[in-house]
Amino acid sequence: MRTRPLKVALLGCGVVGSEVARIMTTHADDLTQRVGAPVELAGIAVRRPGRVRDGVPAELITTDATALVKRGDIDVVVEVIGGIEPARALITAAFEHGASVVSANKALLAQDGAALHAAAEQHGADLYYEAAVAGAIPLVRPLRESLAGDKVNRVLGIVNGTTNFILDKMDSSGAGYSEALDEATALGYAEADPTADVEGFDAAAKAAILAGIAFHTRVRLDDVYREGMTEVTAADFASAKQMGCTIKLLAICERAADGRSVTARVHPAMIPLGHPLASVREAYNAVFIEAEAAGQLMFYGPGAGGSPTASAVLGDLVAVCRNKLAESTGPGESAYTRLPVSPMGEVVTRYHISLDVADKPGVLAQVATVFAEHGVSIDTVRQQGKDGEAALVVVTHRAADAALSATVEALRKLDTVRGVASIMRVEGEKGE
Ligand SMILES: NC(=O)c1ccc[n+]([C@@H]2O[C@H](COP(=O)([O-])OP(=O)(O)OC[C@H]3O[C@@H](n4cnc5c(N)ncnc54)[C@H](OP(=O)(O)O)[C@@H]3O)[C@@H](O)[C@H]2O)c1
Repeated sequence: MRTRPLKVALLGCGVVGSEVARIMTTHADDLTQRVGAPVELAGIAVRRPGRVRDGVPAELITTDATALVKRGDIDVVVEVIGGIEPARALITAAFEHGASVVSANKALLAQDGAALHAAAEQHGADLYYEAAVAGAIPLVRPLRESLAGDKVNRVLGIVNGTTNFILDKMDSSGAGYSEALDEATALGYAEADPTADVEGFDAAAKAAILAGIAFHTRVRLDDVYREGMTEVTAADFASAKQMGCTIKLLAICERAADGRSVTARVHPAMIPLGHPLASVREAYNAVFIEAEAAGQLMFYGPGAGGSPTASAVLGDLVAVCRNKLAESTGPGESAYTRLPVSPMGEVVTRYHISLDVADKPGVLAQVATVFAEHGVSIDTVRQQGKDGEAALVVVTHRAADAALSATVEALRKLDTVRGVASIMRVEGEKGE
């Protein structure tokens, strides 16, 4: 066993960083055994040095993250600051100074993953980021390593705990969106500004990372189609229930049937109650991976929180330290397939469309004609009258998103259609 310690710089000591520091300190002996050398916390960069941080050695705190990274004796930099800058500059400087990097930064990796991987490779360093996708749940490593010999065709999952908590509350209590968001905020599941979660940005960043690794290509945040869940209503849940479904905010990454392109999207969708993702409650995350040889795999667990996320960071830290000792690196970026990312219009799925229409004869035929003219085949239609008006709920067979959008556009122009109350995709049905 080597006695000279591997030195770790911790950038950030907030929700995740403080737990990383705690586990590194309390599990120091185990880490030494597992790595094959002592792993020493050499410095901790923060923004507010005066803040009380229980259990964190005060002498290690600094506000000069750049100087810490450039010290020259640092073997591994753990970046848990978040955001684009200064995280990007610090990670780049870490590589330039010979350190490997462990990061939990989904926003940065979804935006600049390719450039960061290139910098790591140029300097013979590792870049690991298991914690950037779904907290404690192992996904990056299973995709990068365990499934490296298989062909992944689909990744489908719930990768944002805040939105799952809100949708679960709406489902179980009949609450509206605002009421459920208030409860999530009060319980600490939603941040004061929940935009990144409820508008799907956080899930889209994770979808970009997962799609890139799963399909061995480059997928950036901008390539991911994104719809938030703020428009989901109690009426949508009532409709979903009538169809034996619930509603989840899903991240869906797919290889096209002809294998020549991929898609990545985040949006609310109805899924059958019998689907395993339907029973993912509260703030839990779960991800389905469908691979040619392996079949369906499901990964489930806490997708956020200081301690679960720190678990993923520590797993990466051990792997990177072992690589350092072996004077090697782990798997870098694999983007050799260079598959293009198709636009949302080419995605094929089923739709649930709720229309407010005039309650008079011939309306149904008119609506059905519009669907037929656009090549969108109807599976079921349900009509409910209310005060001279009627609600028409149409569920389609699988159709291209562009065809569905054109259908809805044409429906809006019909005199008898008063409004399109909701459009929701239907996912996860048998045979898909
Ligand atoms: N929280 C989760 O559940 C979770 C889950 C998965 C992934 N992540 C990712 O983990 C990362 C960290 O998240 P977090 O929740 O731990 O954030 P956080 O609680 O806001 O902590 C951020 C830390 O970074 C420090 N910091 C901010 N700007 C800095 C600067 N310019 N120089 C040095 N330090 C700076 C802050 O210092 P002060 O303490 O002095 O303010 C704080 O310690 C993010 O990339 C996030 O996306 C978080």
